[in-house]
Amino acid sequence: MSKHVVASVAELPPGARKLVTVKGRPIAVFNIGGEYFGLLNRCPHQGGSLVHGVLTGLLESAEPGCYRFSREGEILRCPWHGWEFDVRTGQSYCEPRRVAIRPYPVEVASGSLVVEGPYVAETVPVRVEENYVVVEA
Ligand code: FES
Repeated sequence: MSKHVVASVAELPPGARKLVTVKGRPIAVFNIGGEYFGLLNRCPHQGGSLVHGVLTGLLESAEPGCYRFSREGEILRCPWHGWEFDVRTGQSYCEPRRVAIRPYPVEVASGSLVVEGPYVAETVPVRVEENYVVVEA
């Protein structure tokens, strides 16, 4: 895998998302509370665009009438038919053993490291004075 500069940190503040193309693959990059996640932008059900999905939380129930809501903003709901995926791993909560979205590692690299490589700039010009969001694909 090689590393690709896809945005400056300023372009992707907490709560933001961006669709990027790396090596011809559409990748949805999310900033959730300062953590970055990358997922293939194609729902395994029928190909919905996941970058347009709703970020929600995990709802669990141990018994009727009793439920617990957790991990707010970490569950991605496909905009087409509502399948849900863990944004950290790409795993489906409907069929976790069979269905998953391919996750891509995302990191922030300082401008000076980006200039030195091994990153490949494809969508934005590189500026040494800023930090960048980098997808490994
Ligand atoms: S295409 Fe995503 S749930 Fe159907």
